[in-house]
Amino acid sequence: MKAFNSIATTVLILGFSSPTWASEGEKLYVQKTCVACHGKDAKSPILPSYPKLAGQNPDYLFQQMKDIQSGARDNGQTAAMKGVMHLVNEKEMRAIADWLSTLK
Ligand code: HEC
Repeated sequence: MKAFNSIATTVLILGFSSPTWASEGEKLYVQKTCVACHGKDAKSPILPSYPKLAGQNPDYLFQQMKDIQSGARDNGQTAAMKGVMHLVNEKEMRAIADWLSTLK
């Protein structure tokens, strides 16, 4: 009973502390650490030289992510991002790209 109670409490706490996401893409954007470099609104990157993503064409965003992940895109700054691209699969990239394109 005691164990059951603590599990129930944990579920309850997690349930309440996890924010409600507007979309799967937004959730992934935060969970996969994209937010750390590109900013919460996807247009306030931590470094001025990092790209703003909000409002960009979704197919373009998706293609850039695929190219960075595969190594097809590789310029001076790509290395910074390549390190996290193993965290997302194509379906997740698509969801993130679609969500980013809806931002103003
Ligand atoms: C460590 C910092 C960092 C993290 C974490 C990061 N990025 Fe990036 N991202 C960059 C940098 C720097 C570039 C520019 C790369 C280049 O110049 O090739 C970039 C480029 C991009 C681009 C291409 C933008 C364009 O205009 O061509 C997209 C899309 C993108 N990131 C999405 C994401 C997503 C989605 C995630 C999470 C899975 C993520 N990034 C995580 C730093 C980061």
